[in-house]
Amino acid sequence: MSNEILKAINYRRTVNQNSFTDEQISKEDINQILEAANAAPTHKRTQPWRFVVFQNQGLQRLGEELGRIYKEITPAEKYTEIVEQNMAKKATMSNVAVAIIVDYSGDLPEWEELAATACAVQNMWLAAHSLNIGGYWATPGLINHLNSFLRLEPNQKCIGLFYMGHHNGEPREPVRTPVMEKVRWED
Ligand SMILES: Cc1cc2nc3c(=O)[nH]c(=O)nc-3n(C[C@H](O)[C@H](O)[C@H](O)COP(=O)(O)O)c2cc1C
Repeated sequence: MSNEILKAINYRRTVNQNSFTDEQISKEDINQILEAANAAPTHKRTQPWRFVVFQNQGLQRLGEELGRIYKEITPAEKYTEIVEQNMAKKATMSNVAVAIIVDYSGDLPEWEELAATACAVQNMWLAAHSLNIGGYWATPGLINHLNSFLRLEPNQKCIGLFYMGHHNGEPREPVRTPVMEKVRWED
């Protein structure tokens, strides 16, 4: 990889809670990560991404809510206390969690604003990686039940939780099939 941007793209990885250390993510780093998200491309500059940042007691509340929703929506025969606790732990084992929300303007096809928000998440992920912060985009079905907890407007949808923490993991190459299998050339 010939420059820092290409290296960051190649070595950005999904880093989950089990690898997170106790080190605090500084306010300055969180702000830089959010600024990177806000620099994403956006058709008609609708800037449809919205974020709710959870730290400290906020993470406790998020964890409790995820556990509560799991219990509420899981049929009794499938429910286990371990899974309920693990749901909560995903939040409480992270240093910061960001709820990723699309704010549909109505001025564009919904997919364009969804795509723009996904671009914002990739920017966040790359910015976090560049600051030695690992991240993980989680999209459990539970996120469809977070509307009132997140105080979403009717035109808004939560498309995931981005969990972050400092970590000591080794750099990993991406596991992918060759790009050339996904390309057709027309000369
Ligand atoms: C839209 C989207 C949703 C994802 N949801 C989850 C998820 O719910 N759980 C999970 O473990 N990983 C999730 N991931 C992360 C992928 O599993 C991960 O990116 C993939 O395994 C490749 O690994 P890498 O990120 O290290 O390159 C999601 C990624 C994307 C782009």
